[in-house]
Amino acid sequence: MARFHTLPVAAVDRLTDDSVALTFAVPPELRAEYRHAPGQHLALRRTADGTEIRRTYSICSEAPAPGSDGPATLRVGVRLVENGTFSTYALKEIDVGDELEVMTPAGRFTLEPAPGLYAAVVGGSGITPVLSIVTTLLSREPEARFCLVRSDRTSASTMFLEEVADLKDRFPERFQLVTVLSREEQQAGLPSGRLDEERLTGLLPVLLPFDRVAGWFLCGPFGLVQGAERALRGLGVPRGRIHEEIFHVDAGVTPAAVAGAPAHSSVTARLDGRGGTWPVRDGESLLDTVLRNRPDAPYACKGGVCGTCRAFLVSGEVRMDRNFALEPEETEAGYVLACQSHPLTETVEVDFDR
Ligand code: FES
Repeated sequence: MARFHTLPVAAVDRLTDDSVALTFAVPPELRAEYRHAPGQHLALRRTADGTEIRRTYSICSEAPAPGSDGPATLRVGVRLVENGTFSTYALKEIDVGDELEVMTPAGRFTLEPAPGLYAAVVGGSGITPVLSIVTTLLSREPEARFCLVRSDRTSASTMFLEEVADLKDRFPERFQLVTVLSREEQQAGLPSGRLDEERLTGLLPVLLPFDRVAGWFLCGPFGLVQGAERALRGLGVPRGRIHEEIFHVDAGVTPAAVAGAPAHSSVTARLDGRGGTWPVRDGESLLDTVLRNRPDAPYACKGGVCGTCRAFLVSGEVRMDRNFALEPEETEAGYVLACQSHPLTETVEVDFDR
């Protein structure tokens, strides 16, 4: 069950003109709760002028070793989003010694270290979870190799440039890096321009024996992740080897509402061992209904992207507006995103504890 705790900021490192890395110190008594797998994320919460906002940021630091007490620090990457209330606050105001409300880690875009060849295609701030994945994998598993294809606008706008260069120095034989800059000419031989489906279809087979890659990690803006997935599927990579995490989904992606919803419906929810039944108001998502009655219900993005609000659908039917977080196996097993779900039956029962 996800929970918030107040953690002090131990460091603020400027990465580029529009991004920072925030490091939180985790006191010994909370370390077990902040144990995380490489690739997971955290939600940060802030209440200003009576309004609560939450934003999800991926952890970029190495995951704690199995058997350890948990992480002593947690580092996340934050990029400024145009008119973004939280990211503006993070870049302009947060300082060392400030205290922030930090949710315990969540997310299934993860890789437990294992021998083999792995690869990622990332765009912009999509490097953040992959940095944790690569660092943890290569430092813990001597029989693992990783190929990272990253795209950004210019080298000046590239997050974690030094950290990725360090990986190249530490693991020259096992880490392959290809950087594609869309708005900057590079040295001869290096690709530039936009990384889309067509370019990836040509590039990936040249870079690595792509059919031997045990896991592909695609992370970044919606368009890039979709293009990379189409390229991989076109090359014959099975769906089960592809993992995706999408940052920034345009509002236009939301499908239109579906007719057929009952005039009155109620949701029964189980959360942290306790249950309740409440009427769903017109147009409201299941998460909003539950939150009105149980403010401790887990969520972060409310946009169908982070997966924090995942719940098991025990009975009834729902429709989801959009889903960029759950894998097909999870929806087939009966999981839904509460923030995107609307009842299609008069009664719906969900379980947040499963
Ligand atoms: S809160 Fe992020 S997917 Fe529902």
